[in-house]
Amino acid sequence: MTVTTTVLFVFGTRPEAIKMAPAINCVRQRAGMRAVVAVTAQHREMLDQVLELFEIVPEYDLDLMRERQLPEEVLARALVELSTLIREVDPDIVLVQGDTTTTLAGALAAFYTHVPVGHLEAGLRTDDLCSPFPEEGNRRLVSQVATLSFAPTEHAAARLRAEGASPASVIMTGNTVIDAVMDVAERSVELPALLATLPGEGRRLAVVTLHRRESWGAPLEEACLGIRDALDATPDLVVVLPVHRNPVVAETVNRVLGDHESAVLTEPLGYVEFVKLLKKCTIVLSDSGGLQEEAAALGKPLLLLRETTERPEGAEAGTLKLVGTDRATVARETIALLGDADAYRAMAEAPNPFGDGHAAEKIIDAIEEYLG
Ligand code: UD1
Ligand code: UDP
Repeated sequence: MTVTTTVLFVFGTRPEAIKMAPAINCVRQRAGMRAVVAVTAQHREMLDQVLELFEIVPEYDLDLMRERQLPEEVLARALVELSTLIREVDPDIVLVQGDTTTTLAGALAAFYTHVPVGHLEAGLRTDDLCSPFPEEGNRRLVSQVATLSFAPTEHAAARLRAEGASPASVIMTGNTVIDAVMDVAERSVELPALLATLPGEGRRLAVVTLHRRESWGAPLEEACLGIRDALDATPDLVVVLPVHRNPVVAETVNRVLGDHESAVLTEPLGYVEFVKLLKKCTIVLSDSGGLQEEAAALGKPLLLLRETTERPEGAEAGTLKLVGTDRATVARETIALLGDADAYRAMAEAPNPFGDGHAAEKIIDAIEEYLG
C-alpha cells in the first residue's frame, strides 16, 4: 500500500495521550495514511500507563520529564528537539492536543518548520490569562499558529471565529475524550482489592482529583480541608483520591486528607480502572479539564474546584458546577448536592454537551479533505 499522508502526533502528558489515542487509532485504520507518534514524555509514568492501554508505541520518545520541572524549561527543551524531529520526519501535518507545555512546543516547532498544525480541543477560553495557568496562555498562543482548529463544541468554534480565525479553518468535531471514555467504559477490568469493595453497603462514593498549578499552596489546602469537612459531616460518604505524581500536589493532599478514615488515597489509576471507579461513584470533585467532559458523558455530577472554567457549556447544560477552592464553600456545596435529590437528578440527567463519541473520525476526515 502506498502511503500518501504522514500525520505526526505530538503529545506528552496523560490527558493528551487519552485524547489523542482515538485519532491515532483512526489514522491507523485509514488506507494511505501513516501515524507517526512523538512523545515529549513531559509526564513519564502517567503517560506510559495510557500508551500501554491503547497499544501506542511511539516512534520517538524525548524522555523530557524532570522532577519538579518548570513549564518554561520543558518548553525550551521540547521546542528545540521537536523542531529537529519534524525536519527529520517531514510530515504532512502535525497534530497537537489541548493546552499543555508540550502542546505549545509542538505547535511552535511545526510553525518554525513550515508544517501545517492541527489543534485538537481548540477554542477553550476562560478569559483569565492566569487561570488555569499557564494553560490559558498556551491555548491562545496555539490558536495563533494553527492551520486547522478542531473545536469540541459550537461555543468553542464561535470563540475562534470571533478572534479572527477563518471559518474554513475551524471545524466543530466534539471532543475525542468522549470517544475514549466510551471505548474504555465498555472494557472489563478488575479494580485493586481495596477499591473493588468500595463504597460499601449503604455508603456513597466521591471520586476526587486535584493538581492545578494555580492552586498550589493555600487554595489546594483549602479545597482539601473543605473535602475533609464534608466527610466529617457525611458519615456515609467515602472519598477515593488518586494522587497526582507531582510532589508539590502530593505533599498537600497527603498531609490534609491522608489520615482521614473515609478517604482512600491511591497511586494514579490506569484509565480503564479509573473510568470503572467513576461509573461506581455518586459525585466527582475535581479541578481537571478532562474530567469535566467524562463526568458529563457518564452522568456523574461534578463540582469544579477551580475559580474558572473554559468549559462553560458544562455549567450551562448543568453537568458541572463551578465551586472554587474556598474551604467552607467546598464543604457546603458537597453536602448540599448530596442532600438534595432533585438538584442531584437535574445534574445527573443533564445532556452531555462535549461530543457524541465520533470526534476522531470527523477530525481525520477534515485532515484528508484539507490535504486533498
Ligand atoms: C501538566 C499540564 C496540565 C495538565 C497536567 C495533567 C502544563 C503546563 N500543564 O501539569 O495542563 O492538566 O499536566 O496531569 O503542561 N510527575 C511524575 N510522573 C508523571 C507525571 C508528573 O513524577 O508521570 C511529576 C514530576 O515531578 C513533574 C511534575 O509531576 O516535574 C509536574 O509535571 P508537569 O507536566 O510539569 O505538570 P503540570 O505542569 O502541573
Ligand atoms: N485519570 C486516570 N487515572 C487517574 C486519574 C485520572 O486515568 O487516576 C484520567 C481522567 O479520566 C482524565 C485524565 O486522566 O481523562 C485527566 O488527567 P489530568 O487530571 O492529569 O489532566 P487534565 O484533564 O486536568 O488536563
